[in-house]
Formats: sequence, structure tokens, C-alpha cells
Amino acid sequence: MRHLLNITDLTVDEIKLVLELSQRDPASLGRPLAESDGTPKGAALIFEKPSNRTRHSMEIAVVQLGGHPVYTRGEEVGFDVRESVEDIARIMSGYHGVLAARVFKHSVVARLAMSSTVPVINMLSDLSHPLQALADIITMEEHAGPISGLTVAWIGDYNNVARSLAEAVCLLGGTISLGCPSAYDADDDELARLASLGGAVRQSASPQEAIAGADVVHTDTWISMGQEEESAIRRKIFSKYCVDASLMSLAAPNAKFMHCMPAHRGEEVSADVFDGPNSVVIQ
Ligand code: NVA
Repeated sequence: MRHLLNITDLTVDEIKLVLELSQRDPASLGRPLAESDGTPKGAALIFEKPSNRTRHSMEIAVVQLGGHPVYTRGEEVGFDVRESVEDIARIMSGYHGVLAARVFKHSVVARLAMSSTVPVINMLSDLSHPLQALADIITMEEHAGPISGLTVAWIGDYNNVARSLAEAVCLLGGTISLGCPSAYDADDDELARLASLGGAVRQSASPQEAIAGADVVHTDTWISMGQEEESAIRRKIFSKYCVDASLMSLAAPNAKFMHCMPAHRGEEVSADVFDGPNSVVIQ
């Protein structure tokens, strides 16, 4: 039984295969989420947190692959509130060909995987966001070339999106350059873990140093879902980490700007960078 909870659940060859499959016409991929008689298999899409891109892309993808998506809000299943995570996993495995969940605690999606008899996909947890990283890698390769030749700067919080992106960049032999305030950065063990995956890893508390010469610059909100109570302190600590035109001028000429969204113009990114000619955010 294979699950996709973290990017590191995939081998390098499997990541490359995903990237290759993503370039194909969906109609050419067959209907892997349909039974042999054509009946769609269910795909449970459970969201404890809001979603725009992940929900829509997943629903459309499930249909394109021959399945039937069932969108469910977290409170409807009530992980460990209405029922245990394990009971939910065992029941849902009977209805569906795949379970996917966006959760506050990574341990919930990990426990789903332990008890499910069908594959489980992490659609964002506090630890990681592997689907975002795969999509970002596709965009980077389309607009900047193979990851193995790129330096990707991450400016801001070393969060779920950063961790998955760093894993993907390292596995594909690129350079990840983290520019994060201390206490919101990758600790020494995490830097060593990333370095062991391949590629190269740099980190600096100076966003200017981290972005120097980068081919792609990526950032995210300073306040992730579930961290709302920390808003005031986070806004203060991260105020020097806004990706604006002056910071972007230190990256490589024509460096691409990326953001997983939702974005906050005037906080983690200035409006002119977000909406500027080198932004590939929407793509
Ligand atoms: N780091 C953000 C990503 C949103 C797609 C969050 O977890 O809220």
C-alpha cells in the first residue's frame, strides 16, 4: 500500500514520472480511478481547513481519471470528535478508491494512512504540502528549466510548503536557499536531512543573502492556517522578509516569482512583484 503524505514518499524516478504524466493530455491517461466496468471509484476529499486551488484541482483531476470525488468538510467527519481517525479510515476505505485529507495535525493524515486499506493523499498538513510542491516543480521547469540547474530561494517561514518544496528541489538535484528568521527556520537536523536527499542546501537569516543569484524566488503567507493567534508577533518578526522589487533585484536577472497563495500584497510580497512580469504565480 503506497501513500503520499510527504514528497519523500516518492522516489526521484517517481517524481519525474509524475512530472512527465502531468504534461500529457488527461484523456491519454486512461481511467485509473474507474472500475474495469467503467464505474467510477470514490475519492474522499476531506478538508479540515479552507481550500481553493487544492479542492478544485483535486475534484477535476479525480473526474479526469475516471473517479467520483466526494468533498467533505472536516467537521462532518469530526476526526477524533465524532469518531476516531481509525474508524473513519476503515469505513471510508470501503466506499472509496482513494482518501485525501487536509488536516491541522500531520499525525491525523498519518493515522488515516495506518488504518486505510486504500491509498491516502495529504492535501496539506502542518508539516507538509506535497501536492503544492509537485505543482510548483512543474511550473518552475516550464518557466526556468530543469530543477537540477536552478537555485530556488525560499523567503519567509520555513513552513509546510517550504518543507515539501525543499525536499522536491533537493531530490531533483537543485539548490534550495532558505531565507528565514531564526526560530522560523530549518534547524540543523532538518538542514542535514535535506542535504542527505541530494542537491544543495543553504540557509541565511538575511533575505538579501538568501535570494542572491536565485533563479526562482518563492514565498508564502507569514501566518498559516491555524496560526491566526500568532498574527501580531509574526507580522513583526517577518516584516523584513517582504519580497519587494528591491529584494528581487538581488536575484538572477529575470528570476521568476512564485507564491502558493492565498497572498497578502504588502506583507510577504509587494503588489508590483506579485503582479509583475516575472511572476508565475497564477500559472
Ligand atoms: N502555509 C499555508 C499554505 C496555504 C496553501 C498554510 O498552511 O495555511
